[in-house]
Amino acid sequence: MTENAHPKKMLSAQMMNYGSYDVIKINQVVTPNLESTHILVKVHGSSINPLDCKLREGLFKSMIFGSLPRTLGFDIVGEVVSMGPLVKHFRIGDRIIAKSMSLPGGAHAEYINLPERVCAVLPESIDFITASGLPLSGLTALQALRDHLHVRPGDKVLINGAGGGVGHLALQLAKIMRSEVTVVVSNKQIEWATLLGADKVVCYGDGVIESLKTKFDKVFDVAGNIPKSVAKSIMKPNGRFVSTDFSIQSSISDVFSNVFQGQSFSTVMVRSSRMDLDYLINLVVHQLLRVQVDKVFDFVDIAKAHQYMTTRRGVGKVVIQFSEAKA
Ligand SMILES: NC(=O)c1ccc[n+]([C@@H]2O[C@H](COP(=O)([O-])OP(=O)(O)OC[C@H]3O[C@@H](n4cnc5c(N)ncnc54)[C@H](OP(=O)(O)O)[C@@H]3O)[C@@H](O)[C@H]2O)c1
Repeated sequence: MTENAHPKKMLSAQMMNYGSYDVIKINQVVTPNLESTHILVKVHGSSINPLDCKLREGLFKSMIFGSLPRTLGFDIVGEVVSMGPLVKHFRIGDRIIAKSMSLPGGAHAEYINLPERVCAVLPESIDFITASGLPLSGLTALQALRDHLHVRPGDKVLINGAGGGVGHLALQLAKIMRSEVTVVVSNKQIEWATLLGADKVVCYGDGVIESLKTKFDKVFDVAGNIPKSVAKSIMKPNGRFVSTDFSIQSSISDVFSNVFQGQSFSTVMVRSSRMDLDYLINLVVHQLLRVQVDKVFDFVDIAKAHQYMTTRRGVGKVVIQFSEAKA
């Protein structure tokens, strides 16, 4: 394909109301318009992130502007089919990977309109299914470890919830950063975490984290359930802690305790970044980072994928494939 192709209609998986997985319906809608610096991407793959489920359940209603129905989905892999006149870095037919910047995402549709600055080139050597699990989880893992924890070689790092989408990538990235990594995972994930390079693996359960003997330099609470009092007790005096959970966001008293006690607490808020995606993709290409796919659902079965997210005990990502990804 060399010329702009902009189909008028597309299929989109939309939440019709807030609620359970069955509020997701596939509708025919108008394909989004292009802005001058945007590209229109034919989506070949995406994934379901817990954020999609939280948005669907109505947890962040106040952050969603406009009325329902709306299209969820943050991870995008696909192909450029049309572009605005000011687009510089892409050509029609390029394979791209991106994380949507808008709420509630919009990636669970046949086409999505994206600013070119958030898109990275997806090399031929990475298949669409694997790549579908990378954007939101990989960016979160990288930005938490690098920008919040400042992980250095030799650091003792704890990752709580290392078997999921974010955690299994964080574990590998922390090893790439040459730290000593202890992970907390479920029973079924022990073998896998060891295979991915964890130095120590413990199973989650009551009192497990409190009873760890190590004092950590850095703690990444991916599962978002370590109480602050426990976090303080397992970290070195100048330890850093980052959570995915906004309820642990620094209060004024935390800011003072960060300054005076040396320990710091923060919450990662994932950002779209072409540079970070390029970095992650390079690691995947060189087989230094592995994206584990737990289960793949066809786009038409996306409501079932949402349902699966509520009960799953797998490792890695739940991927949505569009028909082109099968080719
Ligand atoms: N702030 C941000 O920017 C941001 C970005 C990405 C994700 N998040 C949030 O981060 C969280 C994790 O995301 P994800 O994509 O990695 O989710 P995920 O794929 O569902 O993984 C969560 C992992 O946590 C494990 N887990 C459950 N209960 C646990 C416990 N008590 N102790 C330790 N581990 C436990 C799960 O294991 P089992 O399945 O075996 O129970 C699972 O492996 C979600 O709440 C998500 O919304 C936030």
